[in-house]
Amino acid sequence: MTDTGLERIIESSKLGCENKAENSLRPRNLNDFIGQEKLKNNLKIFIKAAKRRFETLDHCLFYAPPGLGKTTLAHIIAKEMDSNLRVTSGPVLEKIKDLAAILTNLSDGDVLFIDEIHRINHFVEEALYPVMEDFELDIIIGQGPSAKTIKLPIPRFTLIGATTKAGLLSSPLRDRFGIIERLEFYEIKDLMNIVNRSATIMNIQIDKDAINEIAIRSRGTPRIVNRLLKRVRDFAEIKGDKISGITYIIAKEALSALEVDSAGLDKIDRSIIIALITKFDGGPAGIETIAVAISEDVNTIADIYEPYLIQSGFIARTSRGRIVTEAGYNHIGITPPIKTIKKKLQDKLL
Ligand SMILES: Nc1ncnc2c1ncn2[C@@H]1O[C@H](COP(=O)(O)OP(=O)(O)OP(=O)(O)O)[C@@H](O)[C@H]1O
Ligand SMILES: [Mg+2]
Repeated sequence: MTDTGLERIIESSKLGCENKAENSLRPRNLNDFIGQEKLKNNLKIFIKAAKRRFETLDHCLFYAPPGLGKTTLAHIIAKEMDSNLRVTSGPVLEKIKDLAAILTNLSDGDVLFIDEIHRINHFVEEALYPVMEDFELDIIIGQGPSAKTIKLPIPRFTLIGATTKAGLLSSPLRDRFGIIERLEFYEIKDLMNIVNRSATIMNIQIDKDAINEIAIRSRGTPRIVNRLLKRVRDFAEIKGDKISGITYIIAKEALSALEVDSAGLDKIDRSIIIALITKFDGGPAGIETIAVAISEDVNTIADIYEPYLIQSGFIARTSRGRIVTEAGYNHIGITPPIKTIKKKLQDKLL
C-alpha cells in the first residue's frame, strides 16, 4: 500500500484481500513451482538426500523481494518432506516465551516457517542459536544470583526463514542456515507459464499474445502476474465474449485502463522518471528532492518505486544521486542525451 492509502495494482507486496486467492493459486509441489531452475534442482537433491538418510532437511533461508515465492517454497518443502508446517513470523516472536511455546509444540521432523525473520527481536534471535545448532533451548529460571539455566530439548525440526531484507540479518543468524538461496525476478517465459497455469486453474480461456502481454507487464513477479490476470479477466467478462475469453486486444485495453505500461510501470513510476528529466535535467538528484518534486513520501519511493526502476535499468544510482538512463529516456519517449548520460554514469565508478 502507498503512503496515500491507495493500493497499487502492481504492488509486489500482498494486498489486504489476497490471502485466500493466493492459496488457491499456490503451487503445491516442486514440479508445479515454475522457474528458479537452479534453486529448484538444488532443493530436489537436498530433499532427496535428507529423506534417504531419514534426517530432517537443513535449516533454509530464502531471501527475495515480495511476491517471488518464499512462502510458497516453505509450504512445498514441508509437503515434499511429508512434514507438518508451522507458521509464525519475526514480529510475533516478541519474547523468549513466545518462541518456547512454538518450539515445545513441534514434533520430530516438523517444518517451522518464520516469515520476516529480519524483524525478530534480538533476545529471541540469540535464543534461536542453540536451538538451530543443537536443538536445545536455554531457559533461565529464577532471578539474580540464584538464577539457573536449564537446557530444554527440542524435537529435531527444519527452520525455514524468509526475508525481503537479507542485509538486515545478523551474520550469526545467517551462518546457522545450511541452505541459503536468493530467488531471482522471473524471466518472461516463466511468467508466461505462470499466467497459463493460473488461467487453467481459474478456468479462463486466454490467447498466447494476451499471456505474453500480462507477463511483460508483471515486473518479474508471480504475485503481480496473478493479480493482473484477475483484473484483465474482469474486463474480458464485461467487455468481451465468453467464447474468446481474454484476447490480446482485451488484455491491452485492460492493462492500459489499469495504467500499467509496457514495462510494468504505473503513473508514479513514470512521474519519477519524468520529474528527473524535466526538473533536474535527467539528474543526478537526491531521493528527498525527487520526493518533494512529485509530492510522494521518501520512504515509499525508496522501498516501493525505486528498486524496480533501478532493476529494470530506467534510472541509475550514482555517487551524487539518481540519474535517468538511456533506456529511461527512451521509455518515456524523449530523445536521450547519450553523451551527457555516459558522463553522469561515470560518476558511479568514482
Ligand atoms: N514459482 C512459482 N510458480 C507459480 N506461482 C508462483 C510461484 N512463485 C509464487 N507464485 C505465486 O505468487 C504468489 C505469491 O508468492 P509467495 O506468497 O510465495 O511470495 P513471497 O515471496 O512469500 O512474498 P512476501 O515477501 O510478500 O511474503 C503465490 O500465491 C503463488 O500463487
Ligand atoms: Mg510470504
